[in-house]
Amino acid sequence: MKEDFFKYQAQTSLYPLEVEISHAKGSYIYSTDGKKHLDFVAGVSACTLGHQHPRVVNAIKDQLDKYLHVMVYGEYVQKPAVDFCKLLAQHLPASLNKTYLVNSGTEAIEGALKLAKRVTGRTHIISCVNAYHGNTQGSMSILGNEERKRAFRPLLPNVDFVTFNNEEELQQITTKTAAIVLETIQGSAGFVTPENDYLLKVRKRCDEVGALLILDEIQPGFGRTGKLFGFENYNVFPDILVIGKGMGGGMPVGAFTANEKMMDLLAHDPKCGHITTFGGHPIIAAASLATLQELLETDLMEQTLIKEQLFRSLLKHPLITEIHGKGLMLAPMTPSAEITNQVILKCKDKGLVLFWLMFEERAIRITPPLTISEEEIKEGCAILIEALNEVQKELC
Ligand SMILES: Cc1ncc(COP(=O)(O)O)c(C=O)c1O
Repeated sequence: MKEDFFKYQAQTSLYPLEVEISHAKGSYIYSTDGKKHLDFVAGVSACTLGHQHPRVVNAIKDQLDKYLHVMVYGEYVQKPAVDFCKLLAQHLPASLNKTYLVNSGTEAIEGALKLAKRVTGRTHIISCVNAYHGNTQGSMSILGNEERKRAFRPLLPNVDFVTFNNEEELQQITTKTAAIVLETIQGSAGFVTPENDYLLKVRKRCDEVGALLILDEIQPGFGRTGKLFGFENYNVFPDILVIGKGMGGGMPVGAFTANEKMMDLLAHDPKCGHITTFGGHPIIAAASLATLQELLETDLMEQTLIKEQLFRSLLKHPLITEIHGKGLMLAPMTPSAEITNQVILKCKDKGLVLFWLMFEERAIRITPPLTISEEEIKEGCAILIEALNEVQKELC
């Protein structure tokens, strides 16, 4: 199978992890060589309820028996999509009441950027240094790393970058700015949390000049920071909310939410301001609804903060200089990219799944399913400490 993987399936890098998957359940992934892998990554923050959560699987099976794709997005009235959008609106600030369902995070960002241009009649977009918002050309235009995008230029014009948490640079948001796009907690930059009311200051500046605030909640969203959305921790809310990943409980998804008046602009002058064949797909909407219901009806979100404290208490080691992030979006930092790399690869061999963060190479990504148990956290942290000890010995 591996040979065919390299021969027929396009690769994203020269060194993929190459674990050959048999099945997955709860917090574990099983490979075809009979090995069990404790999952501290959750499909890169996507598998909110772990693997094969019965509520998600049953919702998918129920929908499978009724209908699959029947029509492009937005024409037919389909219960899973309607119920999801309604439940979401009931748990968001009143101004975020209409949701457009798409297929991925990057498509949701594209939709949000187009909506911001349509609402404001402006084209200037501001993003952040080391921001990651996806890989299509609009999203790549607001990627905060020139090295990663140089080969794909020309991209969108009229995009500027500010430094996350730097309040002076907010003066770059002017009456010409359509929107500033921010990750509520910067992901690829190293799980950088907003400090000193930064988001409130961004909100204030946007209001002063009539620019929109777009918050990308694709990573913190859906319970990972102890609240349904990360912005709830910072007393601020966006004009456009972008979501994806964990929303689908392991299914491919994205969405953007705004107020009705704004969102309706995509439907006229010109009509079809955003269209997508598979957006709101009934199976994916059913999985998203089941995931949201489970989060709302259990204490999983509250538990996230208790589990964070457990991680922080167990991950004490001379090679861990600090731990960035919030809730179950944590990034222990080591002194160097090389150490981080060795630790992640050692843990892979020992049966613990960890991952890298794109622009902060000293960070170890820990984003387990929210359903992970205390015992599993202890088991995984013991493996991580063992790997750190081995690397420390090798350094001496
Ligand atoms: C913050 C953020 N925005 C956008 C995206 C893009 O989402 P997708 O890969 O579903 O297109 C990602 C994916 O990692 C992300 O982390």
